[in-house]
Amino acid sequence: MRIAAGVDVGSTQTKAVIMSDNGGLNIVARALMDTGANVQRAAERAFDTCCQQADLHSGDVGFVVGTGYGRYKIAFGNTQMTEITCHAKGASFLCPGTRTVIDMGGQDSKAISIGADGEVLDFVMNDKCAAGTGRFLANAAEVMGISLDEIGPLSLQAKHPVKIATVCTVFVESDILSYLAQGKSGEDILGGVHTAIAKRTLSLARRLNIEPEITMTGGVARNVGMVHALEEVIGRKMLVSPDAQFIGAVGAALFALEKLGQSFEFGIWRGDHATSGGH
Ligand SMILES: Nc1ncnc2c1ncn2[C@@H]1O[C@H](COP(=O)(O)OP(=O)(O)OP(=O)(O)O)[C@@H](O)[C@H]1O
Ligand SMILES: [Mg+2]
Repeated sequence: MRIAAGVDVGSTQTKAVIMSDNGGLNIVARALMDTGANVQRAAERAFDTCCQQADLHSGDVGFVVGTGYGRYKIAFGNTQMTEITCHAKGASFLCPGTRTVIDMGGQDSKAISIGADGEVLDFVMNDKCAAGTGRFLANAAEVMGISLDEIGPLSLQAKHPVKIATVCTVFVESDILSYLAQGKSGEDILGGVHTAIAKRTLSLARRLNIEPEITMTGGVARNVGMVHALEEVIGRKMLVSPDAQFIGAVGAALFALEKLGQSFEFGIWRGDHATSGGH
């Protein structure tokens, strides 16, 4: 049995998964935590939590691939890969048939076109401003005094969604406050906010050929309101795995398992695993 891990150190949250190839490829543990200021520590804590969950020692994990913006800070990682590659790999594993990935993370959003084997064909990225990201939604939630978990479900109850003129984080705050002052309901304001971000995300994704199946990844995929708003503007359903936020880490773990497999073949990676691996 081969055991490998993927650690996705995102700008906002760090995700780690441990996978094994015991009777098919399985996720055996997952951990999620805020990245915070100490990126290296977040990576270690996420990995250690996974090991504990799976009742493993860190030495039992044969290969670790790091990804995400903090990937070079993962001291215990064996190698690093880009988020784009890992999201594509993870999405085509968890959501077979994926041809387009829309990743909405804490600080950037990306769209990726992928081929039949999960390979990256093209991608576009919005990393210059917070519009269309988790941070934008978190700001909106804060201005309204509503928890992040609640904004999505509330936005689905909008009857007359307001028009949000700007998706600039700085200006949206005053937009929201003036709508609140006019007595608009929280649901209608959130409906407007979600639609505005969905339109912005679609215009980013349109720079690629948007082919079905479309899979949404990243922490914002946990927001049912954002999933719904995007589906409305795109005009079709997306695939959303319960592990959507872990998809980058899953892709990294799959690459790690492959590396371990190659090393098994050549017998060069960690003799202990190479001999006990059940050839
Ligand atoms: N339960 C939830 N409901 C709504 N939104 C959520 C929830 N959990 C996380 N999020 C959103 O997901 C974001 C984090 O997503 P993710 O982990 O994909 O980001 P990241 O990988 O750290 O960022 P990036 O890819 O931009 O570097 C948070 O900013 C938050 O807004
Ligand atoms: Mg990310």
